[in-house]
Parts: sequence; structure tokens; C-alpha cells
Amino acid sequence: MGVSSGSRKLREAARIILVGAPGVGKGTQSERLMRRYPQLASISTGDLLRDNVRDKTLLGLQAESLIKSGSLVPDPLILDLILRELTSRNWLSTSRLNTNIVSAISQRSRSSSCAVEPSQDPESSFILDGFPRTATQADSLSRLLPMNLVLHLVTPAEIILSRMATRWVHASSGRVYNIGFNDPKVAGIDDITGEKLVQREDDTEETWRKRLAKFEETSSGLLNFYKEKQPATVVVVRGNSSDEISPQIFEEVERRFA
Ligand code: AP5
Ligand code: MG
Repeated sequence: MGVSSGSRKLREAARIILVGAPGVGKGTQSERLMRRYPQLASISTGDLLRDNVRDKTLLGLQAESLIKSGSLVPDPLILDLILRELTSRNWLSTSRLNTNIVSAISQRSRSSSCAVEPSQDPESSFILDGFPRTATQADSLSRLLPMNLVLHLVTPAEIILSRMATRWVHASSGRVYNIGFNDPKVAGIDDITGEKLVQREDDTEETWRKRLAKFEETSSGLLNFYKEKQPATVVVVRGNSSDEISPQIFEEVERRFA
């Protein structure tokens, strides 16, 4: 993949958010970060939603048409989803939260402090890919668990569009391939599981343009939230490909947490 391998150790707990246009490479960078720093884990709300659609859960049924049309899933549903995921992975203790987690978030949102003390253990490091996506989501998250690095990935839209048609994914893990750039070892097959790769239903040009418009509409509020509240955590990383972006991200993570 053109990026030097070899795993490294984090000495500080990293809680990283990836922000960027659809197809900019959030999933790709998450995978590369986890390979380089095995203490990192990642949550992609897009992948979680697609799992729910595939499993035909109530959330999946509510989210399916929104995802297909390039719209965002409503904040309360996403907050519910992410809170369940954070607690099931033990990244967030539920002991001080209400049983009704959505109302717990809104109650927390009215208080000024954080719900839980974040772990200082570097083994509790993680990446959030695609969450938060709105200022409301960022505000709710900040009341629960403060993030300490916000990476804003920037690639020109036309470059991203040109590679969307050749993106293939492994549905259950979210692993990403791109024909001619990051090919699977066997065409159409996931390297790790041997299962079939698929193309995402929202990767048509028309839907991608709608997702991009949504990103442009919501991301300035999201980024302004962090620029105002915790400016030292926001870093813009520019590049025309994931290979240009990865070394810059690695340097930033190394400097802050390794
Ligand atoms: P989500 O799954 O998060 O989609 P997205 O943000 O649109 O981002 P993508 O996953 O499409 O792209 P990516 O940035 O991960 O890039 P990747 O690395 O795969 O969300 C889907 C939907 O779920 C949303 O539209 C919304 O409806 C809903 N949703 C999710 N979270 C939500 C939230 N918090 N609130 C509300 N709704 C939410 O791809 C990059 C590609 O480029 C790869 O193919 C890579 O190999 C390729 N690449 C990189 N460099 C090169 C190169 N030099 N040459 C060729 N290819 C290259
Ligand atoms: Mg992704």
C-alpha cells in the first residue's frame, strides 16, 4: 500500500475523530492507524448502520432509505447507536447513566461537565470514523467522553469522485479496497476472510454528490464546535490520495500520543 509497516506503541490514551467528505479515506486511514498502533480500535457509524440494514433491525429499517438517498440518519438514532457501542466495548461506564440512554444524553447535555472520566490507559485508545457528524452529535459526545484529536481529512471532490466507482468493501468488517490502488489479493475476495466483496448502494455518483452536499452543510458547524471548545485538538490534513495523507496523520499521532 506504499506506507511503511511496523507497529508502534502509544504511551497516552488517544481518542481520535476522523472528519471528511464521503470517500475521502476515513475507513482507509482507520485501518492503517490500527495496523500501525495495535492498541487502537475503531467504530464506524456507517458500518454499524449498514450492519443494522443487513440484519433488518428496527434501526436498519429506519435508516435504509436515508442512507440510500445520501441523507443523514437523525441525531437521536445515531446517539443511541454510538452509546450502545461505546458501552458494549467498555469504553464508557453505564453506571452513572440512565437506563433510557437517549434521554441520558440529553440530560447530560444540560450539565456542564463530562459524564465519565476518560481512561488514561493507552490500551483504551480508539478512533471514531464518521461520528460525530453534526455539532449536536459533537456536543452530546463531549458531555460523555472528551476526544483529544480531531483529524479533518481534505481531498479535492473530483479526485474522490473519480475513485468511488472502483471502491469495493468487505461488508461485515468494512474493510476497503480500490481497484488499481489497493487491490485485494484475489479479485472480488476479501484478503482476511475469503468472503465476497461488494459495492455500496450509496456509491453511485448521484448519491455521492448528495452525501457530499450534506457533508458541506453539516461539517462547518461540527468543526467550529471543536475549533471553539478545544482548538488545539483540530488538525487539517490535505492530500490527493490516502498515501499522501497517512504519513501526516502518523506524525501527528506520534507527536501527541507515542
Ligand atoms: P459512512 O459509511 O460514514 O460514509 P461516508 O462518510 O460517506 O464515507 P465513506 O465510508 O464513503 O468514505 P471514507 O471516508 O470512509 O473513505 P474510504 O476509506 O472508504 O456513512 C454512510 C451513511 O450512513 C451516511 O451517508 C449517513 O446516511 C449515515 N451515517 C453515518 N454516520 C452518521 C452520523 N454520525 N450521523 C448521521 N448519519 C450517519 O474510501 C476511500 C477510497 O479511496 C477507497 O476506495 C480507497 O482505496 C481510495 N483511494 C485512496 N487513495 C487513492 C488513490 N490514490 N487512488 C485510488 N484510490 C484511492
Ligand atoms: Mg467509510
